[in-house]
Amino acid sequence: MKFFIDTASLDQIKEAHELGILSGVTTNPSLVAKEGVDFKERLQEITSIVKGSVSAEVISTEAQGMITEGRELAAVAPNVTVKVPMTTEGLKAVKVFSEENIQTNVTLVFSSVQALLAARAGATYVSPFLGRLDDIGHSGLDLISEISEIFHEHEIETEIIAASIRHPLHVSEAAVRGAHIATLPFKVISQLVQHPLTDQGIEKFLSDWENRSR
Ligand code: E4P
Repeated sequence: MKFFIDTASLDQIKEAHELGILSGVTTNPSLVAKEGVDFKERLQEITSIVKGSVSAEVISTEAQGMITEGRELAAVAPNVTVKVPMTTEGLKAVKVFSEENIQTNVTLVFSSVQALLAARAGATYVSPFLGRLDDIGHSGLDLISEISEIFHEHEIETEIIAASIRHPLHVSEAAVRGAHIATLPFKVISQLVQHPLTDQGIEKFLSDWENRSR
């Protein structure tokens, strides 16, 4: 499983990129709004740092608007992936993008049939939202398993991005259950690095080294 970062913050993207673990970036309108910057400028900056897929979401709710917006976003850099919501209008737009070889990420996926529809429309990626499903008492991780099984069974090449990740267990379980990618908030990346036994081990090595007989 690969790692994307789920943010529009340039500082966070740069820091995660330095770790050598980043294969891509996902943004959404809420994340971009938080930054208070010009979206296309920020997209340009992000795509110049990260060479993998960078998802940029359309705002329109009508297919034609999504297509116009998506073409403009895709023109910013060759590694832009147009993020489209999982609606009938979104599917129409994905079909057109797929014919134009523009990569797409179908977002706000909450059921396996939505994922299957998106894949059949030509989506490059589908993004099932784990945390938001857990919030309403459903299992986001079971959804990953189901989509993964269906895609495997029907030899579908669309990649599964485990999204709305809230904690490290989401990440390890999404990997076990067949997600190709997990898109992580910066906080979860930091949590993944840490383990109390690693810290204790370093402390012990250093104190033994200081107290060595010379
Ligand atoms: C995915 O691409 C979304 O941007 C994101 O994972 C949403 O997560 P949230 O539920 O924490 O807002």
